[in-house]
Amino acid sequence: METVAPFETETQSDSPQTATVAGQQLRDAMGSFLTGVTIVTARSEDGTPYGLTVNSFNSVSLDPPLVLWSLDLKNNRTDLFRSAKGFTVNIMPASSESLIRKFAAADADRFNDTIWYWGVSKQPVLDEALTSLECRLWAEYPGGDHAIFVGEVIDIRHGQGSPAAYFKGRLSAFPE
Ligand SMILES: Cc1cc2nc3c(=O)[nH]c(=O)nc-3n(C[C@H](O)[C@H](O)[C@H](O)COP(=O)(O)O)c2cc1C
Repeated sequence: METVAPFETETQSDSPQTATVAGQQLRDAMGSFLTGVTIVTARSEDGTPYGLTVNSFNSVSLDPPLVLWSLDLKNNRTDLFRSAKGFTVNIMPASSESLIRKFAAADADRFNDTIWYWGVSKQPVLDEALTSLECRLWAEYPGGDHAIFVGEVIDIRHGQGSPAAYFKGRLSAFPE
């Protein structure tokens, strides 16, 4: 697993455009980019399952099969994902709204009353997921106030349902 240092490109250093946008402006703009919703899970060092709701998930490469997501450094979970050496991306159905909210809420006992099991890579897999991608940690990159985790997909499990959608800060069902 490689950790890559931030770099300055020619474009960054030579750009006459020095202005930037505020974080809230970017958050608002990204709100109009409709995404699915995932719950990313991993095994903590003490052997207990951990997970959080994530919509920064995307695919990266088919050969090798790579996906990525980014973790807010405020969550203080970087070491957990480093030591887990992997994670599962559980793509959630619209019917799992309460689980999606539970895995984003502070102080929630997230795995209590949640059906899950240890997958082939010994990372937690959620039973309700539409699709679960078990990953080996492939690389970690700095991403400003987030850490970007890239995983190599080593196992895929398909469930059933239609996907949850996240748009302008609201959870809903995929508009079919
Ligand atoms: C729809 C949605 C998408 C989210 N996406 C991300 C994300 O991509 N990365 C992230 O770090 N937090 C994301 N969050 C926030 C985390 O779920 C939340 O901060 C996390 O559950 C905090 O976990 P902790 O209490 O264990 O630190 C998202 C929340 C919601 C509701």
